[in-house]
Amino acid sequence: MPDTALLLGGTGTLRRTAELLAAHGWQVTVTGRDASVAPEDWARHGIRTVVADRADEQATGALVGSGVGLLVDGQCYTPDRARELARWSRACGSTVMLSAKAVYVDGLGRHLNSPEKPVWDGPVTEERPTMAFAGEEHQSAEGYGANKAEAERVLRAEGERISLLRPSKIHGAGTRQPRLWGVLARVLAGRTRIAVRHGDVVESTTSTEALARTILACAQTPAARVLNVADGDPRPARELLGEAVALAGGAMELIDVDGDGCPEGIGRLPWTLDMELDTSADVALGVEPTVFADGAAAELDWLRSQARREPGGTWRLPERLGAAWPDLAAEDACLALGAAAP
Ligand SMILES: NC(=O)c1ccc[n+]([C@@H]2O[C@H](COP(=O)([O-])OP(=O)(O)OC[C@H]3O[C@@H](n4cnc5c(N)ncnc54)[C@H](OP(=O)(O)O)[C@@H]3O)[C@@H](O)[C@H]2O)c1
Repeated sequence: MPDTALLLGGTGTLRRTAELLAAHGWQVTVTGRDASVAPEDWARHGIRTVVADRADEQATGALVGSGVGLLVDGQCYTPDRARELARWSRACGSTVMLSAKAVYVDGLGRHLNSPEKPVWDGPVTEERPTMAFAGEEHQSAEGYGANKAEAERVLRAEGERISLLRPSKIHGAGTRQPRLWGVLARVLAGRTRIAVRHGDVVESTTSTEALARTILACAQTPAARVLNVADGDPRPARELLGEAVALAGGAMELIDVDGDGCPEGIGRLPWTLDMELDTSADVALGVEPTVFADGAAAELDWLRSQARREPGGTWRLPERLGAAWPDLAAEDACLALGAAAP
């Protein structure tokens, strides 16, 4: 039990965590609904993949058994799932739940999925108030953060030694929302210009490396805690884009399209919300800060390995990643419009 780790829903964002734990001598088991998506070299690293749906309480409970050293839940979206996790935590050395920065509300009760965006007066600390819960569906704009916040409250009240992690937008190898595909797709298409909207926005990023380091630290020092998890170099979205283009091996001129009359979607970057997370508590735990490039380089390499060229010259990712080929014609039309403007 001491050095056994069980990662629930761990073939995506938690992939790097599985690998870091294994490198530190943990016996790692990862669950998912499809074992075939696990990296081929995991067996060599001693990482075991087991098919178990997180919605199947009995199957997951059987894997937890009489307890593991570290239990990580990447699929805890509701108070009901939190009640199960709280019960299992009592038999485990340390438990980690992936929550989200979506739990936070600003002084006027606005959250990141509100029609009117929240406004912060500086980096957001863990002491900030979180969303109320009124039974909303978790797969909804209002319900995602509300369910996460309520799940956190259940875990604090009923669990033991649970670390609640609040990441920002996650990037890295394996994640199911590969936000850097738009960059790589344009590099693969040989583009020399890219449209940028709201490039001044500073939204913290969270690399899978930052999550992995934090989870390892939580495993080594079991406690009840709440931690923001983010990279240590928050910067304007335009700079992140420029860095990602360079890491992808491209060279593109970044062209601001704010006020150019282009449709809203053109130039939309992955980082859209002014919101920095205060990560001093994570640093105080002894976690060495990461930088954006730690996750970006890994995600771009991985995406390149997944992409397949189609007869028409476009590239596709596997369907489960749900990332479409960007509408380059619409972007060209918008950039031509900007060029024509006085
Ligand atoms: N991605 C972000 O930007 C972000 C930001 C803040 C917080 N979070 C939190 O991070 C966690 C992971 O989310 P993600 O979007 O990054 O996804 P992800 O971890 O990249 O992908 C989901 C993982 O869970 C597995 N999975 C999905 N449904 C499952 C089920 N019912 N039973 C067992 N395994 C299941 C998937 O494999 P199979 O499909 O093969 O089952 C995959 O391994 C979530 O709790 C989310 O709220 C994510």
